[in-house]
Amino acid sequence: MNLLVIGTGYVGLVTGACLADMGHHVICLDIDAEKIAALLSGIVPIYEPGLEEIVERNVAAGRLKFSTDYPSSVKHANVCFIAVPTPSLEDGSCNLSYVLAAAKSIAEAMTEPMIIVTKSTVPVGTSKKIRETVAAYTTLPFDIVSNPEFLKEGAAVVDCMKPDRIILGVESSHAAQMMKEIYSAFTINHDRILIMDNASAEMTKYVANAMLAARISFMNEMAGLCEQLGANIKHVRIGIGSDQRIGYHFLYAGAGYGGSCFPKDIRALQAMALAVDYDTPLLHAVDTVNERQKKVLVKKIKKHFDSVANKTIAVWGLTFKPDTDDLREAPAITLIEELLALGAILRLYDPIAMEKAQKILTHPNITWCRDEYHAAEGSHAIALVTEWKQFRFADLDQIAESMQGKVFFDGRNQYKKDEMRAKGFHYFGIGV
Ligand SMILES: NC(=O)c1ccc[n+]([C@@H]2O[C@H](COP(=O)([O-])OP(=O)(O)OC[C@H]3O[C@@H](n4cnc5c(N)ncnc54)[C@H](O)[C@@H]3O)[C@@H](O)[C@H]2O)c1
Repeated sequence: MNLLVIGTGYVGLVTGACLADMGHHVICLDIDAEKIAALLSGIVPIYEPGLEEIVERNVAAGRLKFSTDYPSSVKHANVCFIAVPTPSLEDGSCNLSYVLAAAKSIAEAMTEPMIIVTKSTVPVGTSKKIRETVAAYTTLPFDIVSNPEFLKEGAAVVDCMKPDRIILGVESSHAAQMMKEIYSAFTINHDRILIMDNASAEMTKYVANAMLAARISFMNEMAGLCEQLGANIKHVRIGIGSDQRIGYHFLYAGAGYGGSCFPKDIRALQAMALAVDYDTPLLHAVDTVNERQKKVLVKKIKKHFDSVANKTIAVWGLTFKPDTDDLREAPAITLIEELLALGAILRLYDPIAMEKAQKILTHPNITWCRDEYHAAEGSHAIALVTEWKQFRFADLDQIAESMQGKVFFDGRNQYKKDEMRAKGFHYFGIGV
């Protein structure tokens, strides 16, 4: 089928490349001319494991093209996917201006009936707003489908190729049929398509993210309590996870969640509730606990050192999670800003996001390092914030040798307290 994907970010580019890999003819469109120029010259502007190969393969096969031009791209397609940002407004509600701008551009360029699919995470009721926007600019028939995306950054290609489920909020059987056909190659093994109304599809995405964020905040709150009461959250996780109703997944205590989805989606869901005068104390708590948790490392650092001013601290990992270059709302950024405000000297390292980080963090007290060993050199303490695999088996003897102090703040519980203490480190984990 001929498809158009609007927005070539983490969702759009991955979706477009995977759809092309399944044999569809896809144009990925973006208003960011630099991004499209990079893609046209063979550079994939984001880091996602496996993405470069799949883009390269499908460009070479002629199934994947890039454009900034709405009229020719819309003319090419029977189905348009919208995968543009939906950031927070000041009050926490969702900013729909990018989505509605894309809808307007599609409508203005339409020359034939169209199926318009929303992949962006949008508040309940957005499909109606898209319908009104499109109807204002064309008299041609069209369908609106809500098809929220569930991929995880760092595993986006795998998630897209083998989705747990594909949610389709539809208004017509024609749209449902077309969408089933598009996704048929992804569901050969067993049917994972769930058809529902638009509002429920839109809501499903927010509820999924709220549930995941709640699990994290719950474990972080319990980790703090474990520290006070002398228990170990790692043991507790195994203890509760063995109950099949609870399970082991997504129950890790750490330095808080970040990224481009959980924080803004929790806020948007709260705003949706507020708009209908419905109290959501649980959502409020999830967000509040996370804001506190993002400061838990700086609190531990302040408690350990009499003064943080002029202490050299190595920060391992800057992205909000491993295997991505995404720094949006990353707990490491909060930590770095707090430490700089306290006068610390920072040695920063991330395996993938150094270039992106250098664009948003500029301070004379920052040294950008080659690797985790280089970052540790001469430092009083290490703060591990992102659990990149390469940090897990670092040569700690070599690292300890090169440091000024031997203090390790483990924001992701990657190391064992006893082993670290045996190596002479002052070790501080989360809830251990
Ligand atoms: N990143 C994730 O892990 C993830 C997962 C699931 C859902 N989502 C949702 O998907 C949506 C997109 O997220 P993302 O992380 O891919 O965003 P992103 O910021 O990485 O990319 C969005 C792209 O859209 C482009 N764009 C903006 N307005 C446009 C327009 N009018 N026409 C064409 N292009 C336009 C931007 O230039 C940018 O390249 C958001 O609603 C997000 O909540 C994201």
